[in-house]
Amino acid sequence: MCGIVGYLGPRSPLQILMEGLHRLEYRGYDSAGVALFHQGAIEVRRAQGKLSRLEDLLRGEAFDGRAGIGHTRWATHGRPSDDNAHPHKTGRIAVVHNGIIENYLPLKEELKAKGRVFTSGTDTEVIAHLIDEFLQQGVPFREAVKEALNKIRGSYALGILCEGEPQTVAAARKESPLVIGLGDGEFFIASDTPAVLNYTRDFIFLEDGDIAFITPQGPQLEDLSGRSLAREPQRIHWSPLMAERGGYKHFMLKEIHEQPAAVINTIRGRITEEEGEVILEDFPYQRKGLEEIKRVFLVACGTSWHAALVGAYLTERLSRIPAEVDIGSEFRYRDPLIDEGTLLVAISQSGETADTLAATREARRKGGKTLSICNVLGSSITRETEGVIYTHAGPEIGVASTKAFTSQMAALFLLALHLGRARKIITQEEMRGYIQGLVEIPGLMKRVLEGAGEIERLARKYVHFQDFLYLGRGVSYPIALEGALKLKEISYIHAEGYPAGEMKHGPIALIDEDMPVVVVAPKDHTYEKVLGNIEEVKARDGRIIALATDYDPMIAAKVDEVISVPTVHPLLSPFLTTLPLQLLAYYIADFRGTDIDQPRNLAKSVTVE
Ligand code: F6R
Repeated sequence: MCGIVGYLGPRSPLQILMEGLHRLEYRGYDSAGVALFHQGAIEVRRAQGKLSRLEDLLRGEAFDGRAGIGHTRWATHGRPSDDNAHPHKTGRIAVVHNGIIENYLPLKEELKAKGRVFTSGTDTEVIAHLIDEFLQQGVPFREAVKEALNKIRGSYALGILCEGEPQTVAAARKESPLVIGLGDGEFFIASDTPAVLNYTRDFIFLEDGDIAFITPQGPQLEDLSGRSLAREPQRIHWSPLMAERGGYKHFMLKEIHEQPAAVINTIRGRITEEEGEVILEDFPYQRKGLEEIKRVFLVACGTSWHAALVGAYLTERLSRIPAEVDIGSEFRYRDPLIDEGTLLVAISQSGETADTLAATREARRKGGKTLSICNVLGSSITRETEGVIYTHAGPEIGVASTKAFTSQMAALFLLALHLGRARKIITQEEMRGYIQGLVEIPGLMKRVLEGAGEIERLARKYVHFQDFLYLGRGVSYPIALEGALKLKEISYIHAEGYPAGEMKHGPIALIDEDMPVVVVAPKDHTYEKVLGNIEEVKARDGRIIALATDYDPMIAAKVDEVISVPTVHPLLSPFLTTLPLQLLAYYIADFRGTDIDQPRNLAKSVTVE
């Protein structure tokens, strides 16, 4: 998400910070800032918007210190603004942060009660206050950092400066990446190596719970209890360009592999496993208006529309509220029937898709309730809906959407559970079961992704086919559509997705040995029917790639290729069946040599009708 860079050494810290921030801009770019020593005090400069705005602000300025920290922000808590930009400085402490502090609200209340004044809407500011509060109580800087981190719950990568310690940069990591770059008499911190690859290739990769105090003598590493740690530096051989993609050949592949973390980040803080509760703080109809909802409309475009189809299925099954799906560009032209009993859920990664935005306006104009599920904080759609459930997938750079899709499904699952429980359709015991199932999903996604090599081999075999058909039933039908869309948009191969039961009504005429049929066939209540469809394809000499659960001898005996995913509750199977289809499309496109991250004719966000 956000990008962090820090420097301690003889060169101009400002120049190194700005260079690093430019290299990290792909991680997010709604605001940026730096903190630098000048005449013993810490000076902070921050600006909303692109880095050029910060550069304008800094023009002509000089700082005489040797240490600095910088940040480029992709907002999660608190909308993009100058005040919410990092670094956050209070008293003697300046902090840059990537991650989410889960218990920031109670900590903030505690600190406010001690008379501390907050100037931003971020979770990060509590860290600066906490450390400074310990300093004021006479605790030395290093101890104050550890004391503060021991009070914090959540994820963080941190860079910290302290007035009175002009030769120290402190860094800490928990669940958000942070590295220390080792130069000749100079040291760097960065959330990603490309920020400083021009200066060093030797890095210490901090591990969860590590704290580093970097001085001209080098970094000293400790854990949260103060025990000193030794971490071997590693030399990396990536080119700066590759490293921006974290060693992956394309952003799309990186983002495919980021999906377990994206789902974790989307459900984090919104569930309680023991009580079996879903907490959707930004869902505006928790206490008032929920009983009025008689119908849910899910509206979106492209991949987000496929998430909407899954969402409608989940909503009806789990909450028994009638749910309908429409494509953004169709919805507003059909004069839809909307009243105060209608909840319109707009789903969008970017929050800027013109047709989805227009649909939300149409719903509002007609008096409906509006909610968005969105990945970009402060985007247009989030501003025009009454409530937002943010997906926390991090910036998606590859044009073909991957991690946004699975995060949207996670948000929709939470929404359906929340509605179902509020309407007493599901019991608390059932709720616990569903939540438990959802919590296990990221680990199982990782297992599926470990099988990427097998899918790459399969892709090599199928790279020369010109047409593909994708079939699925029930909740797997949208996954078939998504598999087909991924293949066509990045490989330029013609691919169609169909509900498997519809095959007999037309597409069956296309089947021959030149058109592979990808069948999504997890074990659910449609399984027997899908087996029947497989037989129908086989009887016409079709080639079948089946996506099945665990080892499935029934399917293995009938088809040409089987890709297996672990067995989960049928409503959760889309999280796993999606992944091999993304990988299959990716590897086929890669073998064909297409421009995977920026396929021809496509744009990442479609802001025109
Ligand atoms: C496909 C893809 C597009 C988007 C669509 C909607 O891989 O990325 O189909 O899903 O343009 O975009 P958002 O979700 O930003 O509204």
